[in-house]
Amino acid sequence: MTEVSYETRRSELKTYFDRTAKDNWVALTSNSPVSRIRQTVRAGREEMRNTLLGWLPTDLRGCRLLDAGCGTGALAIEAARRGAEVVAIDISPELVAEASARLPHDIDPKTIQFEAGDMSDPRYGSFDYVIAMDSLIHYPMDSITKLIEGFAPRTRDGILFTFAPKTPALSVMKAMGKLFPRNDRSPAIEPVTETKLISSINGSLTYNFGFRVNRTKFVTTKFYKSQAMELINS
Ligand SMILES: C[S@@+](CC[C@H](N)C(=O)[O-])C[C@H]1O[C@@H](n2cnc3c(N)ncnc32)[C@H](O)[C@@H]1O
Repeated sequence: MTEVSYETRRSELKTYFDRTAKDNWVALTSNSPVSRIRQTVRAGREEMRNTLLGWLPTDLRGCRLLDAGCGTGALAIEAARRGAEVVAIDISPELVAEASARLPHDIDPKTIQFEAGDMSDPRYGSFDYVIAMDSLIHYPMDSITKLIEGFAPRTRDGILFTFAPKTPALSVMKAMGKLFPRNDRSPAIEPVTETKLISSINGSLTYNFGFRVNRTKFVTTKFYKSQAMELINS
């Protein structure tokens, strides 16, 4: 079976997050009331964000960080609060506008560059850390590996991302997702076999760029299942 190309999926995701599901996504990432299903997703996402932020140094002053697929900006804002200079990129201009509007008063607007664009665009420059929370989960493994290979030569310390692990639970959830009311459905998620992902990383990324897997953590609530992975430059 041929995999969907990077460009095709990126365009589908732009339509989905910018239009189809924009209001739902804005609600999910706010404090407004949501369905029970979405409450479990919200709780899982919060745990995931805290996991990724917990893997970064507490003091991020002097660090340049890419939030790759920033959505409504929660992670970017927290990283800026800890002193990072953040470049927050999302393919959806609507979500980028929402993220900018959510910037709290205690954060200097100059510390976050919110921009609509492709996270893989090299013109955003070099970083100490690249973080992609739940933005690579929508791409097939080949695209995930290529995206990370694109980040590697421009990243000094760490690449932190999440993937959807191919587990029986996730397969059941994917099938169940089709039964959800339309509003509770998520866009295509591409489950990836962890061992295949690690061997692909150990091959090209370690050999060419010196990055290796440092740790992973599976975060699971009833309707949220995602696995964090940290690659460090050794
Ligand atoms: C599930 S959301 C996660 C958003 C955010 N990271 C968070 O955890 O709240 C995935 C995001 O990735 C963005 N995205 C997907 N592909 C992208 C690409 N190639 N470049 C930039 N953003 C992308 C989508 O527009 C969407 O906002």
